[in-house]
Amino acid sequence: MLETAERVDPAFREDVLAGLSAYIPAVPARWLYDRRGSELFDEITRLPAYYPTQTETALLKEILPDIAKCVHAGAAVVEFGAGSATKTPLLLEAINPAAYVPVDISGDYLRESAAEIADLFPSISVEPVVADFARPFDLPDSIAALPKLGFFPGSTIGNFVPRTGTDLLRSFRDLLGVGAQLLIGMDKVKPIERLIAAYDDPTGVTAAFNLNLLERINRELDGDIPIDAFRHEARWNDILSRIEMHLVARRDVTFTISGKSFSFAKGSSIHTENSHKYGQRGARVLLLAGGWTPLAEWTDPAGDFAVILAEALPNRFAP
Ligand code: AVI
Repeated sequence: MLETAERVDPAFREDVLAGLSAYIPAVPARWLYDRRGSELFDEITRLPAYYPTQTETALLKEILPDIAKCVHAGAAVVEFGAGSATKTPLLLEAINPAAYVPVDISGDYLRESAAEIADLFPSISVEPVVADFARPFDLPDSIAALPKLGFFPGSTIGNFVPRTGTDLLRSFRDLLGVGAQLLIGMDKVKPIERLIAAYDDPTGVTAAFNLNLLERINRELDGDIPIDAFRHEARWNDILSRIEMHLVARRDVTFTISGKSFSFAKGSSIHTENSHKYGQRGARVLLLAGGWTPLAEWTDPAGDFAVILAEALPNRFAP
């Protein structure tokens, strides 16, 4: 069924029409997360093959006493994203901040999760901000005088190419200010078989997550894409150190979206997501380029995932 015009984000139409007409057809990954896409992503985080969520959560449990010794007392925690039901309470419990500011574009989801945190931690001032954290926004005045700790778990930084990831880290520095700290999760390079299994799970949840983009296009942008003409593919791009998700045409296919016609030849693809994986030095250089000096790094015993604490030091003359 076609959604009413008011409910469709005009940027979605623009990105899809421009992205599918591009020389390398691609749709920005943020459009994977409508209600259904967010539910499917939640399901992904519980899959045995998708190691990042379980590994980062277990690692945080282990290292939070150490992190608590390194962060400023009485801070305001600014989380980029609405917060995870398990990771966020672990952090707040361990460091007992003065305020918690989750930032997310989805107002409903943000309000629900902020209310849960406020119930769990009555002594922490919870002040949700509805905003796309990848675009400029303001923090509440009430936290202006508090030291800041940014929290960016889940390896979401990996979904940005290094150029835009660096811009994002710089915008976090501008927002939080000199002297602020950042606790960030980054997924590490590992054997290709494990990476592919994590992004092409045997139960097909990741495939459904990727294909849901086409269903969303049909639903919201008056499209007639035959979904069965495409299949999910997870590829390792070694030179760029990233997993790529693609929707590959099983046969020659033609369809229309918002009255515009598109043709895909068998085997050609729509690129829908990147998930960059970092080695130790690459992760540190990315942070430094974004204006954050690494202070400490922790990894799980298998070396699958890293949590790094960094600080926004003042700019100084460099030789
Ligand atoms: C949200 N993000 C960190 C996930 C990732 O691992 O890149 C998105 C995802 N895509 C497929 N599976 C998970």
